[in-house]
Amino acid sequence: MSLNVQPEIEALFSEAREFPPPPEFAANANMKADAYAHADQDFEGFWAEQADRLTWFRKWDAVLEWDLPYAKWFIGGELNVAYNCVDRHVENGLGTKVAYHWEGEPGDTRTLTYADLRREVNRCANALLELGVRTGDRVGIYMPMIPELPIAMLACAKIGAPHVVVFGGFSADALQGRMIDSEAVALITADGGYRNGKVLDLKGAADEAAANAPTIRNMLVVQRTGHGVPMQEGRDHWWHDIVDRQSDECEPVHVDSEHLLYLLHTSGTTAKPKGIMHTTGGYLTGVSATHHAIFDIKPDDVYWCAADIGWVTGHSYIVYGPLSNATTSILYEGAPQYPEPDRWWSIIEKYKVSILYCAPTAIRAFMKQGDAWPAKHDMSSLRLLGTVGEPINPEAWLWYHRAIGGSRCPVVDTWWQTETGMILITPLPGVTTLRPGSATRPFPGVAAKVVDADGHDVPDGAGGGYLVLTKPWPAMLRGIYKDPERYMSTYWRRFPGMYFAGDGCKVDADGYFWLLGRVDDVMKVSGHRISTIEVESALVDHPAVAEAAVVGRSDPVTGEAISAFVIVKSHIQPDDALAAELREHVAAKIGAIARPKMVMFTPELPKTRSGKIMRRLLRDIAEHRALGDVTTLADTGIVDTIRDKAQSSEADQLV
Ligand code: WTA
Repeated sequence: MSLNVQPEIEALFSEAREFPPPPEFAANANMKADAYAHADQDFEGFWAEQADRLTWFRKWDAVLEWDLPYAKWFIGGELNVAYNCVDRHVENGLGTKVAYHWEGEPGDTRTLTYADLRREVNRCANALLELGVRTGDRVGIYMPMIPELPIAMLACAKIGAPHVVVFGGFSADALQGRMIDSEAVALITADGGYRNGKVLDLKGAADEAAANAPTIRNMLVVQRTGHGVPMQEGRDHWWHDIVDRQSDECEPVHVDSEHLLYLLHTSGTTAKPKGIMHTTGGYLTGVSATHHAIFDIKPDDVYWCAADIGWVTGHSYIVYGPLSNATTSILYEGAPQYPEPDRWWSIIEKYKVSILYCAPTAIRAFMKQGDAWPAKHDMSSLRLLGTVGEPINPEAWLWYHRAIGGSRCPVVDTWWQTETGMILITPLPGVTTLRPGSATRPFPGVAAKVVDADGHDVPDGAGGGYLVLTKPWPAMLRGIYKDPERYMSTYWRRFPGMYFAGDGCKVDADGYFWLLGRVDDVMKVSGHRISTIEVESALVDHPAVAEAAVVGRSDPVTGEAISAFVIVKSHIQPDDALAAELREHVAAKIGAIARPKMVMFTPELPKTRSGKIMRRLLRDIAEHRALGDVTTLADTGIVDTIRDKAQSSEADQLV
């Protein structure tokens, strides 16, 4: 395993610019500097106070049981996530407060208050009950970014049925695998959704997936586009036929604190995505507390996390964190630059958004379009900005701070993962002096450090290493669904007693954490996690391909771009048409986000004597760099052969 240090972060490591919190912000901050010492002195007490922000039907008997690698939080406690996110706010007089301002890509809008949300969630929960879904049953969700998506998730939570959300950009194959893995009994989908002016055919993909996922007995279909889709008698039900006629009342099921809330699949170092397990009490405590503290949520804020709910960022910081805090959020269906590059800025102006949370890849794409687009809009309502998903280069950080934040908004660069459930390394906006490119410090109560290959501590300021977590945290994953061995080997075996995050990291002399990218075979393309092996398997699945190796090459906008090295079968003559076909093949197998940007046909691949593909060298070739160390290469002539004989074909990635 080699450390893949991002050169631009390395170069700006001695970045001298500092941004202390604005005094007024600091004075009114939800979380103050004393939280660090308090959490250090009384770890369990600190998290218990955070859990007290929720409403429990039964109080827990003990805060934590830590039997490495399994944690249980708030043992014996009982609660309901939907009750905490919706009902209790209505009971507390917030029924008329807006939960979501929704905007569809074509420009249609809907406003849902907390009372509206309560009614819709209850109706959907009752419909699920009518369809025979019971507490503990898994329910698949494959939807565009429309209000019915969070409604469906909350309806599942209301009856204690774990949801399995699959990003709407994934293919039928990817959906099918996740439905089979989770043995989902029902699938909630839509006829389609809008993206870049086009209709996504979600129902077609859902039909294809369900045909081979026999546990799915019912499909609930929202009519979003009305473009006419086939409905299978007995299995498929229109949402408006069955949900709308249900009762507005539904009793929340009291579930145990450790009841499974959801599964979310994520890519790792093999072709099979892992079903990450998140449970109820600890998860909601973690996302609620971090959302309140890090985004400094005040009652009149208009908050916008511009991610897709299909990823963990959306689960934790569009749905559960914000709703548990009775926040008013924006929900936007479509592509960031549709129909023009200022769509986001017009939304900020229109709804007077005060907090924006998005990915560095989006920031870089906007930065490329220049300052004129954001300058057309009054964005003086903004008071705080955030980023997530990949390291942000200081240049993009500074642009975001100036061109979007008017040089007055703190920028919280938040590090976390699908597995961690909640943000773990982050500034506190009223406390932390910011350094562009650094996620700064572990959140209070979070124990993170950097170790070398032998698991020894790397002292602050001494250089790079591997990021590990040394104490449990409430929203941590509880395992990989049906695969305890993989849970152990992926996260806990590399450094005994510590959680291995898979990221390289440096801590500077002042204790600031600088994330350096993945150290395994996981790529970050536009902030999305895609495993090299997943793409390789999809390529080899094509009849013309004999062997394939995939690497992430650094890309100025998407962070990494997928580069595929392909050996075709002996009777095949590779050309641009085949390259295009392979790209589409990968998109069909996994989804458009995994479509390789570069396809290079090569007669051979560089391998070690033991037959392992040397990805490091492929990355050097893809980036047109001088080669690194080649001493372990079995045949040193091979790289020249690839360079001389390879035919490369490049196409822009559709994001
Ligand atoms: C990367 C996304 C640097 C990291 C919430 C991690 C980051 C992976 C940051 C998890 C950040 C996320 N700075 N890198 N602020 N945030 N990452 O599961 O490599 O989609 O391991 O969760 O994203 O990706 P995932």
